[in-house]
Amino acid sequence: MAETAPDDVNSAFTPRVFSGIQPSGHLHLGNYLGALKRFAETQNRGVQSIYCMVDLHAITVWQEPADLRHATRELAAGFIASGLDPARSILFNQSQVPEHAQLAWLFNCVARMGWMGRMTQWKDKAGKNAENASLGLFAYPALMAADILVYHATHVPVGEDQKQHLELTRDIAAKFNHDYGVDFFPITEPVIEGAATRVMSLRDGSKKMSKSDPSDMSRINMTDDAETIAKKIRKAKTDPEPLPMDLDGLEGRPEARNLVNIYAALADCTPEDVIRDHGGQQFGTFKPSLADLAVAKLAPISSEMQQLMQDPAEIDRILGSGAERAREIAAPILERTFEIMGMVRG
Ligand code: AMP
Ligand code: TRP
Repeated sequence: MAETAPDDVNSAFTPRVFSGIQPSGHLHLGNYLGALKRFAETQNRGVQSIYCMVDLHAITVWQEPADLRHATRELAAGFIASGLDPARSILFNQSQVPEHAQLAWLFNCVARMGWMGRMTQWKDKAGKNAENASLGLFAYPALMAADILVYHATHVPVGEDQKQHLELTRDIAAKFNHDYGVDFFPITEPVIEGAATRVMSLRDGSKKMSKSDPSDMSRINMTDDAETIAKKIRKAKTDPEPLPMDLDGLEGRPEARNLVNIYAALADCTPEDVIRDHGGQQFGTFKPSLADLAVAKLAPISSEMQQLMQDPAEIDRILGSGAERAREIAAPILERTFEIMGMVRG
């Protein structure tokens, strides 16, 4: 896999951020802290930012059409409610920008079967029944590379779980540049930072919080009401010890560490700060503070999401106009890629 690129490799490219989230299932606290909240912070620093509801990725496993449509709009509402401004950032759904799928085909011819076969997400999702998995699920990372590189994006904020896919994106860019003797695609930098790049399940500190977990008690959904959020935190699995007096004391206590990290990410402070203020407390005291904080931060987002969902036509309009702006960037990059590869353009 690619080594970290020296900075000068990307100096020819304008800094541009791209990230995507699948519109499948409901948004949860892991998506918010690991992705949405950080996206809004990036936008507010003034970097050009492009955010995509990756519906083509979602259908690599079966999606009920009505559910997909609903989830795409709900995700768009989640982006906006989390602080993404569709006038400043570009927000759109992937299938409305055909350049993604077109570049993905070209990358299918650059990426190697062996690279794809090593992806842990493929192995986890296809499981023992790989013969029956969709071809799209196998090719998923090439489409992801296309999402990023069709904009010449230089930085991709994601959660820890996407690191391997981003390494593959770098490998595809490097192989393309090498094979065609160009410096055309940037070697994208993953941006994986903060206390909550891996929010864990509330029921099992060794598993990440995920929309596919069968237990709804394992995650806080962005659409949960205040009472449900408080109940889930109260019932979160913990050990009987009080919070330690220093960070080292979280060693071997994944559930306690997770709650401390969640607190830090929600409060915009570090885990050290949380331990300084709450070290020595029993969970009977810490959990209600965490619940209050979570409700205070999430309730306004959830109510704005609900309000935005009252007007699906407006959401569709936002996604449509985002797609037009996205195409203005993507189309010339795809065109140039075709030319580099030797396709005749009339
Ligand atoms: P997904 O919902 O799998 O499409 O993920 C969307 C974004 O949320 C990606 O950037 C993921 O890395 C991030 N993400 C998903 N689950 C978690 C989690 N448990 N902790 C932190 N980030 C997460
Ligand atoms: N694979 C990512 C996930 O499951 C979603 C995704 C698709 C993505 N394309 C992307 C993330 C491009 C970052 C950049 O979370």
